[in-house]
Amino acid sequence: MNMEFPDLNTPVAHSASWSCPSNIALVKYWGKKPEGIQWPANASISWSLGDLRARTRLVLLESQSAESSLECYLSGERKPSFEPKIRDFLARVSADGSCPESLRASLVSGAWRIDSSNNFPHGTGIASSAAGFGALALCLVDIAVAMGSDVSNPMELASRWARLGSGSACRSVYADPAIWGLHPAVAASSDDFAVPFHARIHPDLAEWKDYVLIVDAGEKSVSSTQGHALLKANPYAEARYAQAQEHLGDLLTAMQNGEVSRFMDIVESEALQLHAMMMASTPSFILMRPGTLAIIEKIRAYREQSGASVCFTLDAGANVHLLFASVDENRVVNNLLPSLLPHCQDNQYLCSNLNSGPEPLNHE
Ligand code: DP6
Repeated sequence: MNMEFPDLNTPVAHSASWSCPSNIALVKYWGKKPEGIQWPANASISWSLGDLRARTRLVLLESQSAESSLECYLSGERKPSFEPKIRDFLARVSADGSCPESLRASLVSGAWRIDSSNNFPHGTGIASSAAGFGALALCLVDIAVAMGSDVSNPMELASRWARLGSGSACRSVYADPAIWGLHPAVAASSDDFAVPFHARIHPDLAEWKDYVLIVDAGEKSVSSTQGHALLKANPYAEARYAQAQEHLGDLLTAMQNGEVSRFMDIVESEALQLHAMMMASTPSFILMRPGTLAIIEKIRAYREQSGASVCFTLDAGANVHLLFASVDENRVVNNLLPSLLPHCQDNQYLCSNLNSGPEPLNHE
């Protein structure tokens, strides 16, 4: 028995459990196409935040009722506030052409229970939706297979379904860097799901780490979904989408050739453009805090002076992701990090590797 998830005293028809990492985008998804469900306006690429994970068990209970039902628990506590979004997600999966008939019938009328927990503390401003929907989609694929469906590419299907929950979640199902959205340089690319970047990455860019500096542990002032919607009326949107497409092509080249400076320039430019788009929207949002800017300036000054491979990226919030080559970890931790921590709320930061993927959990 696995102590992680509570015992259930109701008979279980199917059950699956996965651990799935969050991810950090290097080229950002910010803006959706007007058609499709969560089709991105431009292609994006992310690294897997292998140490920041959701652990999720999805259970289909044996039920006599013809009505569907759903209960969601986070760290053992019932979370009714999560249920509408997850209900919408399950409805989207059931309506998608890729959903096998047996699973569709259970999604429409079954009794479902979800137990999830994150291995990073709540209240650190870290969005858990990518890891959470990634894990949930992986569980759904397992259950579809257990029901007898023939799934030729389970990770691709999980990525497609995760996208229906939260766009960026589709990039969480791979250990390799994940590319999502149509791009001429990536033959297999798709708006429907992410694909792993299998090309040989230059050793100078293959082993990096991320320290997430918690500048503001509070809730985001604007949700990603609202943020994406603001692009519709943003006069710079088309130029931004074109720039992201160009950045992605250049970033892939830099990763294969080991052009570390070019890589860092693109990654930082992407972060600043994401924030610039929010500042240039109506209404406008300034998501950085004074500590965010102070950290950015110190990272740039340290890089200039030391020559270390270190740069930053940002999410749609105030926290800073400090990205650096593993070979530079000692000097970054000893010489740069202490000067950044005073800008963090309660000196908080989280460390993650950038190259481990989802894992199935045994629960019987
Ligand atoms: C800034 O995936 O959270 O993290 O598709 O509406 O759920 P929805 O949005 P979401 O947006 C993520 C935006 C971002 C950039 C990125 O991860 O590419």
